[in-house]
Amino acid sequence: MADAQHGHEIRWEYVKMSQKTTKTWFPRLLPGLLLFITVVAYYGSYTILQSYGGISKSPNSSKSPCDSWLTQKRWESLNFDFNRQTQLFLQLSDFFWREHLSGLPLPYGTNGSEVLLQKVLAITANYELPVHIQNLECRTCVVIGNGFAIRNSSLGNIINKYNMVIRLNDAPVKGYERDVGSKTTLRLFYPESASPNPELHNEPDTLMVLVPFKQQDLRWLKEILYNEKRVRKGFWKPPPQVFSGDASKIRVLDPHFLHKTARLLKIPLNQELVHPTTGMLAVFVALNYCDVVHVAGFGYPGSKSPRQPIHYYGYDTMKNMKNSYHDLSNEAEALKRLEDSGAIFYLHPHS
Ligand SMILES: *[C@@H]1O[C@H](CO)[C@@H](O)[C@H](O)[C@H]1NC(C)=O
Ligand SMILES: *[C@@H]1O[C@H](CO)[C@@H](O)[C@H](O)[C@H]1NC(C)=O
Ligand SMILES: *[C@@H]1O[C@H](CO)[C@@H](O)[C@H](O)[C@H]1NC(C)=O
Repeated sequence: MADAQHGHEIRWEYVKMSQKTTKTWFPRLLPGLLLFITVVAYYGSYTILQSYGGISKSPNSSKSPCDSWLTQKRWESLNFDFNRQTQLFLQLSDFFWREHLSGLPLPYGTNGSEVLLQKVLAITANYELPVHIQNLECRTCVVIGNGFAIRNSSLGNIINKYNMVIRLNDAPVKGYERDVGSKTTLRLFYPESASPNPELHNEPDTLMVLVPFKQQDLRWLKEILYNEKRVRKGFWKPPPQVFSGDASKIRVLDPHFLHKTARLLKIPLNQELVHPTTGMLAVFVALNYCDVVHVAGFGYPGSKSPRQPIHYYGYDTMKNMKNSYHDLSNEAEALKRLEDSGAIFYLHPHS
């Protein structure tokens, strides 16, 4: 921006000077030369910044981190299979165009869940992000993991400044604002991780994004939306039987994103017992939708600190993660690769 203005001023000088000294060549050439130097310096500084790993290394840079040229370069430098898809949520119309239907069943596709999805999506009836975010030329996003590392970080005010703040599961906000901020644009969850009263920690316009891992997850949402008898079978932890909130704020994440996240983590698709975490999924969704992706609260305590809490709230330790369906070291490596390539930036020091 500053450089564009500078260029404009130089051109303006050129007009003024050329009016005064139309008969001498040198003053006429000089502004053009200056303009040339400015342009060279402008692109030269990009190249230098790029060679230092991109602007993302410095969130306090005087240049906007949203420069499309840099974003594009960073994107290309990734060797992952990233085809940006910016329609994040399933829509009712998806189910009237057979050729768009995925052949995979949940959690990586919609095959076999069409009827449940039609019922759910008929009630939620909204499938988009707010227009004021969709229309942004550059979207800055922060994904807030639930990790202990964000505790006492005082990042709250910084977090609230992003266009989109993505939170996970039942992560609390009330009482933790100083460290985790108060803004929540999207909250990714599944029935077992849902809080019965999401409004307590959300804002009025927070979108609740269901990540369906299995058909029961969609059935759970259908039963709530249609106020039907709840079927309690098929969950590894009892999900809430009531779920307050506005149906028009509920979205269903396209399983395409979990599929791609599993591919990134090289998780075999026929593997029933290992799925990506919602945190890893959220980072992947952000990489698809946002131009700038920063993260905080990621990472788990090492095996040397079994008693350290794993979350910024509550008292769970690594013991409680023992039977998890995730491959945490694989995810840590993937996050490291994303960080090293400049695709994501951590807001706090981390191991
Ligand atoms: C960013 O830069 C400004 C001015 O240069 C400075 O006052 C501020 O403390 C910096 N913020 C961080 C997070 O480094
Ligand atoms: C959906 O899954 C069934 C098997 O459960 C399979 O026969 C069918 O081909 C799949 N649909 C698509 C579009 O691949
Ligand atoms: C956070 O700060 C409070 C008060 O400043 C302190 O009592 C507490 O031990 C700190 N917690 C961590 C995890 O550093």
